[in-house]
Amino acid sequence: MVKSFFSKVARRIKTSVPASVATPLAAATNNPWNANEPVSYDGMWLGCNTCVKHIQRKVSGDENTHWLTYAVQKYLGGAIGQISADKDRTEYRCLILGANEGHVERELCQHGFIGEIVASDIADKALARAAEKSKELGYENITYVVADLNGDLADLPGMFDFIIFEGVLHHIVKIEECLQHLQNKLLPGGLMLGVEFHGAFRFQLPEHQVKWINAALATIPKSLRPFPRDEFGMYPASPQDNLRVHYVAPTAESIEQIDPSEAICGFKLKQLFTESFEVLEQKGFGGVLLSYMTGHFDFKRANEDPFADTWLKNLIQIEDTLIETGILEDEYIFWALKKKD
Ligand SMILES: C[S@@+](CC[C@H](N)C(=O)[O-])C[C@H]1O[C@@H](n2cnc3c(N)ncnc32)[C@H](O)[C@@H]1O
Repeated sequence: MVKSFFSKVARRIKTSVPASVATPLAAATNNPWNANEPVSYDGMWLGCNTCVKHIQRKVSGDENTHWLTYAVQKYLGGAIGQISADKDRTEYRCLILGANEGHVERELCQHGFIGEIVASDIADKALARAAEKSKELGYENITYVVADLNGDLADLPGMFDFIIFEGVLHHIVKIEECLQHLQNKLLPGGLMLGVEFHGAFRFQLPEHQVKWINAALATIPKSLRPFPRDEFGMYPASPQDNLRVHYVAPTAESIEQIDPSEAICGFKLKQLFTESFEVLEQKGFGGVLLSYMTGHFDFKRANEDPFADTWLKNLIQIEDTLIETGILEDEYIFWALKKKD
């Protein structure tokens, strides 16, 4: 029984490369999101429990509720059978952008979405792993499509009630065309829900942001920073220490080498979203300091050690204050967007 069940799913799960595929940047072999192993958030702010709770509180109002759960409960009630709807639940269609390892579509299914899900990404290896996991779980309503958002959207068949994006649109060179296609793919009243990065082109941070990152790091005990362990671990770093060890923005060339499409258009997205869609919700969740502190603050230790975690809360407070007082702007934002009438 298990075998026939899986083989039925396998027919439904399709990883296809549209004939017209044009993959100028992200399809380059150095797309780090398409490695032989899934990308790990270990050691980064997004892999740190206190940061995740803080983000969730900012987006959903509850530290234990993920943005996707919040979005599904608030906007997909009819599609998951929580409220009455004017069409059958099986008739809803959802397009996922940047599906990568596939957690969004699997969570949709877990929430009770039984309509068709088209999960897309340019990363064929990650998508193949996602398809495998979904197959194992027996989700028969997911179709996997390898697609470049710079040009393949028009080839996707049909229209969608929902488009869900997660950290993918800041990678798109032809973002204006892409957003136009996405609007065209939405049914009347259709929604685009997701989270995006809005920071500087290839992480070329303005000088004052770099200064604030280093000023914040200078407030924490040396033992939480990459300094040799000595008897001064409970001191803040000295000015001389801070001259040796501090955050330096990477060059645009080095970012291009690691990932040619990284942070290519995030800085344009706020304006484009606002112009192209009706904005139902825009909720920032920071990132202006914390997302750059990988390797400078021990996020992993903060998951296990209350001492590190308490200092992390101070860093979060500094980041919040910088945003609240208008010195820096949220770089990560949850959006609920509606197709314009
Ligand atoms: C920052 S990762 C986000 C992945 C996942 N949603 C997450 O949050 O962990 C960016 C994703 O965008 C995909 N991507 C990059 N350029 C793309 C393009 N031109 N078309 C479609 N997907 C692209 C990458 O393969 C990767 O899966």
